[in-house]
Amino acid sequence: MKRLKIKQILASEQAGEKFKVGGWVRSARMSQTVGFIDLTDGSSIAGLQIVLDSETNGFDMLKDIHTGCSVLAEGTLIESPGKGQKYELKADKITLLGEADPETYPIQKKKHTLEFLRQKAHLRVRTNTFSAVFRLRSHLSQGIHDFFRRKGFFYIHAPIITTSDCEGAGQMFQVSAPSEKEFFGRPAYLTVSGQLEAELMALGLSEVYTFGPTFRAENSNTPRHLSEFWMVEPEMAFYDLTDNMDLAEEFLKALLEYMLENDLEDLEFMERWYQKGLLEQLRNIIEKPFERMNYTEAIDYLQKSGKDFEFPTEWGHDIQTEHERYLTEEKIGVPVIIYDYPASIKPFYMRLNDDGKTVAAMDVLLPRIGEIIGGSQREERLDVLSRRIRKLGLDEEAFNWYLDTRRFGTVVHSGFGLGLERTLLFLSGMANIRDVIPFPRTPGNAEF
Ligand code: 4AD
Ligand code: MG
Repeated sequence: MKRLKIKQILASEQAGEKFKVGGWVRSARMSQTVGFIDLTDGSSIAGLQIVLDSETNGFDMLKDIHTGCSVLAEGTLIESPGKGQKYELKADKITLLGEADPETYPIQKKKHTLEFLRQKAHLRVRTNTFSAVFRLRSHLSQGIHDFFRRKGFFYIHAPIITTSDCEGAGQMFQVSAPSEKEFFGRPAYLTVSGQLEAELMALGLSEVYTFGPTFRAENSNTPRHLSEFWMVEPEMAFYDLTDNMDLAEEFLKALLEYMLENDLEDLEFMERWYQKGLLEQLRNIIEKPFERMNYTEAIDYLQKSGKDFEFPTEWGHDIQTEHERYLTEEKIGVPVIIYDYPASIKPFYMRLNDDGKTVAAMDVLLPRIGEIIGGSQREERLDVLSRRIRKLGLDEEAFNWYLDTRRFGTVVHSGFGLGLERTLLFLSGMANIRDVIPFPRTPGNAEF
């Protein structure tokens, strides 16, 4: 007998066939003569209804089967006479594998708050909501690789332990070993971004991307920040800022399309319970061009908005989430790309524009989320880059390897970073970033 997952069994539509299936009980109810188990194995939002009667081997065990128990069922797939499902499994045999005491098992059938489930992060994947979110996360990761494979980009691995600070915002976790403080012979850190290494690789392979965990020791306890988050970072030789923005827009649209094609049922579930109008919003974003405006225009919009923002909207200040959301939700109504930010608020590697005060940076903003992508054209001119590094008080010697790529065969190049969890927030309608990564790390919290 074949042991298949519930998704495969339901998709087979092979009424009359025998199947063996293992999973966890969402709910169980019984009378003297018949019992029903709603079984999930995480493979799909739909569970499998297992029907037992006095003929079923193990029927007397049904009284011990509660929400959370693990069971193995063997039986025949039949068309369900009941409402709510097309097929059900008429069980010949049921085996209770692992008990779950209803007095102490925390994930009961009633609807729990997300806050409660966050404290039970080791068990929350058993709920409909979190199984859907983590299936979406898996599909999104596949969609990322799918996009770049189609485009002919090479997948590269940037180190997690690094000795350089890409963003220069002073948010690095230091890495040490108990016996030896400087295990690597010099201070080493968890990477905040794979970009600098991606640049080295792009200046040889032309088009590459990294996709991995990155770490930031910023003390921002917000629903949009994690200390450990995953970032996708494409880096492309011979791309200028416009090419970079074009790719970012194409990429984001392709990801949404991929998700609609490959995991519609989980998106529908999230729409139903967490984000009304989600699918329409996704389709809208795919169809319409993104709005593009430079930083100076964006500041102008903000100043004329008549809104009472918490943060200043003077030229030279960073654009905050409240501003981003105003622009993309209220003012424009579609995703917005803002480019040419003041040099003074951006890292050393961004290309200086001819005006001498802005750099070729770009951020992609989405409704509900704000910034989802940050990127730039990189400074490819050795003299300008050296000057910038010195001006910012960075150690030029420490960046010698980076400067070498400008010394030898330098080319125009660009790249960006997309936050995986922010993308998932957008796709799932979840409001808190801690609910779209299995084991969140935030200030004061690193369980497991
Ligand atoms: O804008 P950021 O800081 O850009 C970089 O790191 C560049 N080196 C990328 C590049 O050009 N290759 O971060 C990029 C994205 C943000 O737009 C956001 O989506 C996400 O990473 N992000 C975070 N996500 C969760 N928690 C945090 N603390 C995040 N910080 C950034
Ligand atoms: Mg940014």
